[in-house]
Amino acid sequence: MNDLAKLIPRTEPASDDEIFNARETCRQIVGAAFTGLDAHAYSEFHSLLALVYEQDFQPKTWPKIGIDQRVLVSTIKAVLEPALLREFTTVALQETVAQVPNDSAAYLLWLKQVIAEHPASHHPFYEQFIATDVTVSQLRSFLIQETNLDPRFDDILCQLQFGTSGPARLELASNYNDEMGGGLGAAGVHTDLFRQSLRHLDIDLERDTKDVWLPTKVSGNLTAMFGTNREHFFKAIGYFGVVEHLTPRRMKRVVQAWRRLGLPESGIEYQKLHIQIDAKHSQAWFANIVGPYAADSIEVKRQIAIGALIRLNSSQLYLDSLPGYLAPAALQTPGALNKSAAEA
Ligand SMILES: [Fe+2]
Ligand SMILES: [Fe+2]
Repeated sequence: MNDLAKLIPRTEPASDDEIFNARETCRQIVGAAFTGLDAHAYSEFHSLLALVYEQDFQPKTWPKIGIDQRVLVSTIKAVLEPALLREFTTVALQETVAQVPNDSAAYLLWLKQVIAEHPASHHPFYEQFIATDVTVSQLRSFLIQETNLDPRFDDILCQLQFGTSGPARLELASNYNDEMGGGLGAAGVHTDLFRQSLRHLDIDLERDTKDVWLPTKVSGNLTAMFGTNREHFFKAIGYFGVVEHLTPRRMKRVVQAWRRLGLPESGIEYQKLHIQIDAKHSQAWFANIVGPYAADSIEVKRQIAIGALIRLNSSQLYLDSLPGYLAPAALQTPGALNKSAAEA
């Protein structure tokens, strides 16, 4: 871990010199990672960003509650976030976005078709590997990686609601109400239901999520960037619209695996619930958030499409990579994992 990483969680504010040096260090890391194509620098880039975002979602406890690290954190984000966005704004993405229809009704149909036809939509990692092959220990490792989004989603919804109005604001509020259990009280809070799944596989959020894999950090960093940075609001509604849209079919496969492995039914309340509720959330997200904002202008339509495509592309990369982490040996022999990797 470099000196900068030690500075971020520190309990005294960074000095002007430290902030100046932090900017320089971040520029060097970005240069080495993306111009020099240095794998170590790339890993350092994502670890640093993950550490920064961890501060955004952590509970504020004493003595850190009184420490103002905003200048340091903003400085780091100001250098690293544009590089992260550039990493995923590929030429292929820009070519797809250039085809965005101007007509609002046609746009929604186009966007749904782009999502439906993308390899991430029916990825063999879920359709094949999770559904039929995953073992208990692989499922455990996989759920540890999935903590990069699920336990943060309710906090992200709160942040997306800032400055919204009309149907979008109501939709975000209604979605958030569902996250809080929709009137069922503590027993229905989604993040707690997710923790219930984790507990069944002996996963502790604080203990077991410190060393997630690099593709998990990449995915988590994109999610946190779009969930916490208001400059990317339109991209965020595209990004999280895809998250809601793809969740039901993915959760079906996790439920299938859970039952096949004979794990207790009480551990999949979260996944069973999301097969139903995210079908509703997805439909309402496109009708009440994407639709009204997209009607504003062609540029907003493009921004939403960029966010949706970044989610699709990054999800594909993440799922493509997981078999190599879960069972590297299996990749060298014929089998489901091998097929998954080849078809992805
Ligand atoms: Fe949820
Ligand atoms: Fe949802």
